[in-house]
Amino acid sequence: MAIQVHRLATALGAEVRGVDLSRPLAEDAAETVRRALWNHAVIVIRDQRLTPEQQIAFSRIFGPLERHVLADNLLAGHPDILVLSNKKAGEKRLGRAYAGEYWHSDSSYLARPALGSVLYGIEVPVGFGDTQWVNLAAAYAALSPAMQLLCDGLTGLHEFQNAYRSYLGVLREFSAGAYEGEYTRVVPVAHPLVRRHLPTGRKSLYYNPGFTVGFEELNAAEGDALLRFLADHCTRPEFTFRHHWQQRDVVVWDNRRTMHRLVVDFDDDQPRYMHRTTVVGEVPEGANATA
Ligand SMILES: [Fe+2]
Repeated sequence: MAIQVHRLATALGAEVRGVDLSRPLAEDAAETVRRALWNHAVIVIRDQRLTPEQQIAFSRIFGPLERHVLADNLLAGHPDILVLSNKKAGEKRLGRAYAGEYWHSDSSYLARPALGSVLYGIEVPVGFGDTQWVNLAAAYAALSPAMQLLCDGLTGLHEFQNAYRSYLGVLREFSAGAYEGEYTRVVPVAHPLVRRHLPTGRKSLYYNPGFTVGFEELNAAEGDALLRFLADHCTRPEFTFRHHWQQRDVVVWDNRRTMHRLVVDFDDDQPRYMHRTTVVGEVPEGANATA
């Protein structure tokens, strides 16, 4: 069956049909799926039945896998899989509950941040717990030339613990099993604020409210003002895509030019159980690097 790619929103997002991810993809099929991801930034593949091994094998078509820093939430026997779940066995959660309610790009706090993430919805509360993405290449393109020039010259500082520090007492993830030591052991890193997206050559903002705390070249007041501007600008509705989960959806996204968040409009009585794999990325290249 020929693989079909159907766009889902103006800014980003496409559905890929005609693939069975439980079986090894032929090289031309893998290339079609990769190209759909590079071009649309988020791809949805519905109605898949995957064991952990099959999800890992599929994820590797994008590159080697990253082992998530939240070691307590890795799947037993399959540490390449991060479990996201509000389900409990006794008092213990089966995975990270209500994770990622704030805008973020996965592992931007690492020196080699994630290229992509693959999220498999094994059990989802249909109609609840949507995920939203924004296209940060579109957000960059919409800036005035003067603002682009400013951003091109800046270096963002990224800290994992910023999310914990900022949202403790506010967001449910941080009262549902998170603890400070998970965050403080990850050292801060610096990345260009504007990076070139290697597969398309497009420039993209590489910023997210969860982990970006300031800029090397700006003082604190200037940095705070720019962070506030970016938070408003980057989340404009025309840059967004919102996915309504169904059972057994696989969603893959390119972290290098997007950020995302979970909509927490569900509760412990609406079970959600997902497996995530994460693909290692390259060290980000700045705006002025050659494509
Ligand atoms: Fe995430």
